[in-house]
Amino acid sequence: MTGIRMVIGQELAAAQSGKTFEVINPATEQAHARVPEAGPEDVDRAVRAARRAFDSGPWRKMSPADRGLLMFRLADRIEAHREELARLDTEDMGKPYVHAKQHDVSSALAFLRFYAGFCDKIRGSQIPCGPDKHVYTIREPVGVVAGIVPWNFPLVIAMQKLAPALACGNTVVLKPAEQSPRSALALAELCLETGFPEGVVNAVSGGGETGAALAAHPLVDKISFTGSTEVGKKIMHAAADHIRKVTLELGGKTANIIFPDADLEAALASCLLTSCYNSGQICTTGSRLLLHPEIHDRFLDALLARLRTLKVGDPMEEDTKMGPLVSKEQYDRVTHYIEIGKQNNLRFYTGGFRAKPLDRGYYVDPLIFDHVPVDARVAQEEIFGPVISTIDFRDEDEAVAYANATSYGLATAIWTRDLSRAHRLAAAMQSGFVWVNCNHYWVAQIPYEGHRQSGLGADMGVEAVESYTRLKSTIVNLDPAPHPWAG
Ligand code: NAI
Ligand code: MG
Repeated sequence: MTGIRMVIGQELAAAQSGKTFEVINPATEQAHARVPEAGPEDVDRAVRAARRAFDSGPWRKMSPADRGLLMFRLADRIEAHREELARLDTEDMGKPYVHAKQHDVSSALAFLRFYAGFCDKIRGSQIPCGPDKHVYTIREPVGVVAGIVPWNFPLVIAMQKLAPALACGNTVVLKPAEQSPRSALALAELCLETGFPEGVVNAVSGGGETGAALAAHPLVDKISFTGSTEVGKKIMHAAADHIRKVTLELGGKTANIIFPDADLEAALASCLLTSCYNSGQICTTGSRLLLHPEIHDRFLDALLARLRTLKVGDPMEEDTKMGPLVSKEQYDRVTHYIEIGKQNNLRFYTGGFRAKPLDRGYYVDPLIFDHVPVDARVAQEEIFGPVISTIDFRDEDEAVAYANATSYGLATAIWTRDLSRAHRLAAAMQSGFVWVNCNHYWVAQIPYEGHRQSGLGADMGVEAVESYTRLKSTIVNLDPAPHPWAG
């Protein structure tokens, strides 16, 4: 397992042009690896390999149980490479190694095993239409799936696309983000080593142009994309040209709503998690903290006290809680939003504790803007960093109105001990996820669907099966009598 070659068919491949690009470690600002930069010709080779494997390879003829077995074997192989895979993500995008090793690899394994067990449980139905008709549906694989992956959870999100696609019998071309390409390349290599037939799993590395070439390729049947809303729209345009399926997981602006009757200790710990885990680079980061005036000062003081002890630093050190942001581009983006907030004269507080001075790396300390108007830019646009805005609300109606007052609709968190209120609010939230007394809870069995500009179609859960298959209805006429119209 190298993580520096693409996987095209059976081959560990370089780009045909010979082009490569550097991968930068955001903790050191130094290049630490070079990977191939796939041009349209490489994307074409990968898609054709996947196409052949789908149309005429042994994959389609394999029994679902055997497909599942291969996936379970892949899980064992990943387990054996846990440390190496975690290190690839840490070096490429700066997340603490301990989190990568414990959370990311485990979560990728859970997805894989969940869908491995699903292969032989994907069923159609029999539809009653009377004694003269036998009608049934089946779910067929769609064909070639393009998985375009972002950098915030490189291995996990690559797996979120790969596992359901394989379980349904599709073939796949993965395109990891240019900032963090190596774990997906390594994953595709592990598939080859595990014995997946040639062309079933391919991976090409490159940036937006590579992604665009993949999304526009006429032999792709479905695109599954996670990333910015801006690129999501382009993906949808590309899909429209060929009337192909898309699943989009896009941005968010999660409201984390704290009512005075909540378990404030639990809410506090969870608030820390949702603001700073993965340096706030999560689509469900609780970037809007809705605080009731009755607890505002207490909660904020306690949060700041906790934030000031949060260790920001070298992601390879075991007690580091927050590493750098992924890239210079992301650093500029986040600091730009911080400037916007300051120019709007918003009051702000910073946290973060540095065990030693950090003279390199794209580090940003956690920052809280306080008493932010709900329509301020920092409270409307996805920052994707450890920056949160407190918003005041007086009652349930205001909580609902403010939580829904963005163009996004990914997740909401509600903290209260009043169960009736929790359910009332959950029903009123315009978001695909509602967490009650928790945050950032995602597991393979729960479907994940962004509402409004946060996405389209469900990832994960049993529901993902629908999006990686197409439906076929077969109507068998048991009555030889002709249709009355035809006489
Ligand atoms: P992005 O949306 O540009 O990149 C995501 C993936 O799409 C990468 O693999 C990239 O190479 C690919 N891509 C870029 N342009 C493409 C195109 N025209 N056609 C096909 N594929 C293309 O995200 P970026 O620029 O890295 O981050 C910008 C912002 O996007 C972040 O600040 C954050 O707000 C949001 N974002 C959201 C994520 C989420 O989990 N929902 C993940 C990453 C970014
Ligand atoms: Mg971009």
